[in-house]
Amino acid sequence: MSSNNKIIKSWGGRFTAPTAGFVEQFTQSVSYDQRLYHYDILGSTAHVQMLVKAGVLTDAESRQITDGLASIEADMDSGQFQWSAVHEDVHMNIEAELVNRIGEVGKKLHTGRSRNDQVATDIRLYLRDEIDTIRAHLHDLMSALLDVADREAATVMPGFTHMQAAQPVTFGHHMLAWFAMLVRDRSRLHDCRLRLNQSPLGAAALAGTSYPIDRQYVAGLLGFDGVIENSLDAVSDRDFAIEFCACTALIMMHLSRFSEELVLWMSQQFGFIELDDAWCTGSSIMPQKKNPDVPELVRGKTGRVYGDLMALLTLMKGQPLAYNRDNQEDKEALFDAIDTVKACLIAYHGIIASMTVQAERMREAAAAGYTTATDLADYLVRKGVTFRDAHASVGKTVQFAITQHKLLTELTLQELRQFSPGIEEDVYSCLGLDGSVAARCHIGGTAPAQVREAIKRGRNYLRSK
Ligand code: ARG
Repeated sequence: MSSNNKIIKSWGGRFTAPTAGFVEQFTQSVSYDQRLYHYDILGSTAHVQMLVKAGVLTDAESRQITDGLASIEADMDSGQFQWSAVHEDVHMNIEAELVNRIGEVGKKLHTGRSRNDQVATDIRLYLRDEIDTIRAHLHDLMSALLDVADREAATVMPGFTHMQAAQPVTFGHHMLAWFAMLVRDRSRLHDCRLRLNQSPLGAAALAGTSYPIDRQYVAGLLGFDGVIENSLDAVSDRDFAIEFCACTALIMMHLSRFSEELVLWMSQQFGFIELDDAWCTGSSIMPQKKNPDVPELVRGKTGRVYGDLMALLTLMKGQPLAYNRDNQEDKEALFDAIDTVKACLIAYHGIIASMTVQAERMREAAAAGYTTATDLADYLVRKGVTFRDAHASVGKTVQFAITQHKLLTELTLQELRQFSPGIEEDVYSCLGLDGSVAARCHIGGTAPAQVREAIKRGRNYLRSK
């Protein structure tokens, strides 16, 4: 990035000494806010159109400015544009180059606005598009989850509480739990978009402007749903960026929990799933290793997104009205949250779409964990025993089975009757894993039939949103 403190700053009129080189570097944001250039030019183009409508600029002037901006954007798109720290940020780089290309008329672009309402507009336009992209990535991942759930609707695994085998569930049902969390994440992003899609333009530096502007008109040109009325509020608050980071923090929290499961499930001790070779990496020393680095990294990156949220909350908390330069620090945290969550969603889509399931291992683990003990207690209740007494006698039955190294289904009727005399031959159907899951056949239950119904609802959701 070039730096030359002999160049006159656009705000340099009241200064007698050039900016110290250090200050130039310290205050610049162009090294990272240049990613906003498309939105900055979009906003400027609409602003100019509004100024024509308001009688502030002529049609010819507007055409010259708009063409100049378009040619600058073309150079930026092709990577030919020379960004310069002398011009501080994306806004002033573009304006300085505009004047350079089209001369005096370029100096009219900034009439009736300030970088304060300009930057607030740019971030909103940019974030609006990024939210759409992130929601599309979520859609892809969710669709892959439904595919797995569909294939594994009747695959039995142990469900866990306290990381101890608890009751049998279907793997499809387990996948649908993650799907349900992502539905909420996606709808939170939708809500966030609704609130941020309001135009700050016209607020200018902080107090509005004396030109006869039309705020609604320029808002409409940019696809905003309305205007942020209060000018002080419009230029100063970054609550929308904080809200967005809170949404991404929740997505990452969900992916991090999911990662914890994938890592455990892929261990030799569990052996529930296999991640595709293309989505794993090896060890530099241990030749046998195939490591789940991708989910581990997603779990690790969750920390940085929480950090981004904390950075923005802290950035905002001490600021009096209206705009303060502190706000320039909103961008790197916001960009980091966006980049990280997008990469993690792409990674997750890849992992889930190529994951294979070791159904036999899951079934063995479910059986070995005595996960149908509750079903046996419920059976006794149906035979007239109170639940508390049934719980106690089944507890003794499990203890006995452990000493005999037997599964519940391997106990003879005689052995079972030692603890609960009411037990009859029909007990075996309820001790089995498939009977146990099939019995939980209410909405949101783990029965394969219910899983298939939930998948249908999930597909409808994805089709409609
Ligand atoms: N680069 C600045 C930012 O990101 C633009 C606004 C500067 N405004 C100012 N009054 N210095 O916030």
